[in-house]
Amino acid sequence: MAALPDCNELVPAITQLRWYHTIDLGGGVTTPGRYDHRPIVNALPWPDLRGLRCLDVGSRDGFFAFEMERRGAAEVVSLDIDDPSDVDFPGFRPPEDDIKHELDLGNRAFEFARAALGSRVQREMLSVYKLQPEAFGTFEFATLGTLLLHLRDPVRALSAVKTVLAGPLLLNEAIAPNLNVIRRRPVAEAVMPPGLPFWWCVNPGGLERLVNAAGFEVAARGRPYILRNGQGAQRPKLRHCFRRPFRDTLSNLIKMRGDLHYWLLARPMP
Ligand SMILES: C[S@@+](CC[C@H](N)C(=O)[O-])C[C@H]1O[C@@H](n2cnc3c(N)ncnc32)[C@H](O)[C@@H]1O
Repeated sequence: MAALPDCNELVPAITQLRWYHTIDLGGGVTTPGRYDHRPIVNALPWPDLRGLRCLDVGSRDGFFAFEMERRGAAEVVSLDIDDPSDVDFPGFRPPEDDIKHELDLGNRAFEFARAALGSRVQREMLSVYKLQPEAFGTFEFATLGTLLLHLRDPVRALSAVKTVLAGPLLLNEAIAPNLNVIRRRPVAEAVMPPGLPFWWCVNPGGLERLVNAAGFEVAARGRPYILRNGQGAQRPKLRHCFRRPFRDTLSNLIKMRGDLHYWLLARPMP
């Protein structure tokens, strides 16, 4: 594990990094994340994690991995990737160096936060598709957040998670505001902008269908909520919200505050 940074060096060092998560590092120091999960984290349906072996899939800066450790997990594995070829792009791919740079930002932020927190979370670099019990053993609980929309094949990814999971999976995924977010009828939109790793945006019913198709049953479900922007967010200007196409106006207005999300607690079916 890297040496703990000196407290006086924390703040200037933090600003050298780009943060996705807002993480309290102690001593009143907080990372300027693009999103702030802190207001919703206690509303998620956490089981008692004390003594459990836990997995955080697509962990980025590690907010959920550190949260599981804080809740008493015996062992936490934070899974992410460092190989550009593991990022799914629809069609056009940006230069490999640009993709690598983006991945390194997340991985460096994680390492920094782990050291600052004195955490024992283990980082593993592996695509979710390649998870298998022979290499990793099994876990008693897992989290997976804001990842499925970045994947070409979300059902294959969830099926791979199932192979290493002997307990519940907590999903906290982005959902599409312009789809039907209230009713449970499953809907998915093929987003796929060239050069960006976005694929499918689902509504709550669509997320449930993905989870079922991968062999999980839903044990509990939340309600759509806005995952709030953090200090590091780039907020759209109000006038941009009313540009064409007008079907995006609601999404753009929501984006001024954050992104619409939805949680599910799922259990592997035998
Ligand atoms: C949007 S962030 C979500 C971070 C966190 N899970 C959350 O809910 O806030 C998505 C993360 O998934 C990672 N990722 C993308 N493709 C992946 C793959 N095939 N396997 C594992 N992680 C992947 C990205 O590198 C990034 O760190």
